Order: sequence, then structure tokens, then C-alpha cells
Amino acid sequence: MADYIYTMEIRLTPDQMKGVNLVQEIARTAEITLYLTGGAIRDIISGYTIRDLDFTVQGNPLKLQKEFERAGAQIAGRDEDTRALFLVLPGNVRAEISMARTETYEKVGKPPLIAPSSIQEDLRRRDFTVNAMALSLNEGSRGLLLDPFNGVADIEAKLVRILHNYSFAEDPSRLIRATRFAARFHWPLEERTQQRYNAAKENNYIEHIARGAIGHEIAQLAHEDDPLNVIRVLEREDWLKVLHPRWSSAKVDANGLALLMKTRQQMVDLGYSVDPSAAVMHFLTARLSDKDISDLRRQIPRKDLVEAWRDIEDHAKELAKRLTGKEAATPSRTWNLLSSARPEMILFLAVTARQQTVAQKIKNFLTKWRDVQKKIPLLEMTELLITPQLPTYPKIAHDVFMLLLDGKLRSRTETLRFLKPFAPPPPPPPPPPRRGRAGKATAAGAQPAEAAESTAKGKRGKGKSETPAAPVSTAQAPSSSGAKTKPAAAKPEATAKPVVHAAKAGSKHSHAHKTASKSKAASKLTKKPARKKAKSRKR
Ligand code: CTP
Repeated sequence: MADYIYTMEIRLTPDQMKGVNLVQEIARTAEITLYLTGGAIRDIISGYTIRDLDFTVQGNPLKLQKEFERAGAQIAGRDEDTRALFLVLPGNVRAEISMARTETYEKVGKPPLIAPSSIQEDLRRRDFTVNAMALSLNEGSRGLLLDPFNGVADIEAKLVRILHNYSFAEDPSRLIRATRFAARFHWPLEERTQQRYNAAKENNYIEHIARGAIGHEIAQLAHEDDPLNVIRVLEREDWLKVLHPRWSSAKVDANGLALLMKTRQQMVDLGYSVDPSAAVMHFLTARLSDKDISDLRRQIPRKDLVEAWRDIEDHAKELAKRLTGKEAATPSRTWNLLSSARPEMILFLAVTARQQTVAQKIKNFLTKWRDVQKKIPLLEMTELLITPQLPTYPKIAHDVFMLLLDGKLRSRTETLRFLKPFAPPPPPPPPPPRRGRAGKATAAGAQPAEAAESTAKGKRGKGKSETPAAPVSTAQAPSSSGAKTKPAAAKPEATAKPVVHAAKAGSKHSHAHKTASKSKAASKLTKKPARKKAKSRKR
């Protein structure tokens, strides 16, 4: 039997998985039965991108709103009729929690009668077999897949199939949905579904589409990976004008959209979690009038999308202004500014910036400046014991990166000279092994030689420490750098390479630090053996 919990865990992003756990915890505390349903299950099983999380509860999810808010979720909307809660969970995870329900259609064109139901009944009111599955997230049955219409088999056969003959008549928005899924997945309609689809089209069932369903379908376009393709297919099938009479593929800024999707992929590859939906809507409707755009927005149930879409240009202008001001006067400042900006704004501005300086700064941020990170001498930093275990490591790494970005560390030698004072003191040497009498004698005999070597090293260090020190010429070098200067004298072979290298290149400052600390550490090492030496002479 397939392990769907395992499949879910490996297919969801870490943030989506945290979202599942959070919803599960809230439902468990409220003693409400919870299922992951619809598109999320379809995408988990089929291997496609999981765009959002659809949950269904046996109970009223609107009652859980406070709990979700307390857990850091944003409420993006509510549907009082279906008692659905639209959420943005922490980590920008889109989710919808609906009440398990039956929908009874008494008359064509009239909204259905809605009543609370069990999950089994709820699955029967759904659009396609591949969307009519539920995964239990409840103690005792967690991982059990409810698949009453053989959705898994249709995923394997790559078919879009309605659950019954009246499906399109009951909910004509399914005509649009069938087209959208067929375009997205390249899954054809199953033969009988196609016949019913054709008949529904001929009989103009679409006239009876619910207003709410139109808004829902408009918003769904914002989350497509290839929205222009979907728009074109919808147009060919005559459904686009249902969403808005003046919408057509000619109203789309195809170049802008293509560049947006390309830049989005680039950002995803860099590790950004970026939601392009508002920008997608901007380009899909680029050549529609303001009034038509307002009409479209008014119908969308998720207000978070509407607001983000409405404000995207103003927010981008603000960021562009900051990018031309003092805040972005140097590459390091620009880096910090863009690092704290919302990825969605960087994405949008990357595609729409008119000023050359703004476009170039974003381009550098996404490409050239990343390569500067490769100049951070990680190997030598490890040798200097500047590793992520150090509490100060993030700051040191950040500072060196900033200096490299601004061209203040122009060579490896200069970089090492900057880094060296941050090297932590070496760990204390391990205690000497316990030995028997004979062993002690041998060890005592060996010690003077070791001590002599250490003393010699200490002397060498002392001599060099007389070299005058010069400050490192970097404005951003932390003031504590001198205090932390304790090179690893007990592990000279580890530090020798970069340290000597830096000294040779004329780093008076680092040289002074190195030699002073080295001599201190070396004299520490020589103290103990020297006493032992005296004792053994007495004997
Ligand atoms: N649903 C339905 N009929 C509709 C709309 C939705 O049966 N007219 C059901 C389907 O089970 C669907 C689920 O509600 O899977 C969630 O709807 P929605 O988020 O619109 O669709 P997804 O399948 O999640 O599709 P997408 O991948 O586009 O988000």
C-alpha cells in the first residue's frame, strides 16, 4: 500500500509541511476531523508543483479563525456560504479550509443548497475524479487515502474525468476548470467527459455560471506556471470572455510575462520563495482599461491577491526611489537594502524598472554580486578556526562580504589580513595520558626537548612582535577585532599558511597581532614543561 504521508512529506516544501502540522494541531485541539483534499492531493500524487493547500474539516472552520490568527496566519478572506476560510500560513503558504458539505442543485442556474456533511459525501460534490480524494490527518487514521472515484487511476492514465453526467450542468465553472487543467497538465478530457463538455458548450450552460465562481477562476490564473498558455486555451474555447468580456490574449503583456517567469525561476534557483501572483495579474491585464481591471479585482474572493496586485506598482516605485538614493550609494548598501526587500518587489522591479541604475543594481544583486561570495576564503577561515560554530561567524562572514562587494578587500591577502584578528583562541590541549612508572620516566626524559622547541617558538614570536602595527583600513571592521586576536599557537601548522602569507605581503597590523599572540600562547606552552624540567634535574 502506498505511504501517502511519506509522499506528502517529501513533496511539500518545508513551509507547506509546517503549514500542514499547524492546521493539524489546531484541528486536533478543537477536536475537528481534518483532511487534506482536492488539488493538493492530486499534485502530491502526480508530482506537479503543489500550489496551495486545500483542507476540509467536518465542522465549521470559521470558528477556528482566532486560533489561526494567534498561530501567525493571515486571514485573506472568508466565504460565509461555504464556510471557507482563506489563509496565508507562515512562510507565505496559501491555504483554504472548507467545511465538508453537500451541494444540492435544484434548478439549473440557481446556486446550490449547501449543508454540512461527512467527508465521503463532500467528495461526491466535487468536479473531477483527480480532485475528489482526501487524505486523513486524524489520529488513528492518519495517512488513509479516501479515493471513492479512482482518482489515483486517472492520474496514472492522465485523464480529466467528471464524476457524473450532470457535473457541467450543475456547476458550469467546471467547463472552465476542465479546460484549465487540460491546458496545464496536458491531460485530455476522458471520452465521455468530452462528450458532456461539448453538449454543455452547445447548450450554453456557461450562462449560468455563478459570480463567485468567476472570481475564483480569475484568481486561479495568477498561480499558473504558464499563464499565457492557459489564457490562450481559454480564449480558444471562448471561456476567457466569460471571465471578462474585454479580456483577450492581446491584452496580455506577453514579453513582460515571459521575463517575469524567467526571473522568477532565476530567483527560485537562488533559493527565494517568491509569490509572483500579483505580478502575473499585472501582466495578464496590462492592456485592459483601469475600469476593466477594477471589475476583475472586485470579483476575486482572496483580498490578499487583490491588494498585492493593486499596490504592486506603487511599492515598486518606492523601492526604485530608495535604490537611487543614499541608502543604495554603495554595492554593500544596495545589497542590504535589497536583502531586506520583499522578494516579490525585487521580482517585479527586475522586470519593470525603467531607470538603468535601478535595473543594473537588481541585476547585480541577482547575478554578479553572488559571485563575490565565492571570494570569501572559506578554507582559510576554517584554518583560522573561524567556523559557523563561532557565535560571531555570521557577522564576520557578512562584514567580509560587504568589504569585498565594495572593493575594499582587493586581494586574498587583504581579505586574510582582515580576517585574522577574528581567529578565536585555540582549544586547550588534551590532558596528558596516564602512564605507569616506566612510562613517566620516559615521558619526563622527552619533555625537555618539547619544551625547548616551544620556548624557541616563543622566542621567535617575541622577536617578530616588535614589528610596528598598522590599522586595517576598513571602515566596517568591528572594533572588537583587536581583543579577539589570539591566533592558534597550539596548532601552528593550521594557521601558519594564511598568517605567514599575510605577513609576507606586508600586513604589519596582522603581523603584529600574530606574533604577539603567538608569543603569549607559546610562553604558556613552555611554562609547565619548564617546571617539570627543574624537578627532574633535582632528582
Ligand atoms: N472544486 C470543485 N468544483 C469547483 C471548484 C472547486 O469541485 N467548481 C473542488 C475540487 O475538489 C478542487 C477543490 O475544490 O480540487 C479546490 O478548488 P481549487 O483550489 O479551485 O482547485 P485546485 O484543484 O486546488 O486547483 P489548482 O491547482 O488550480 O489550485
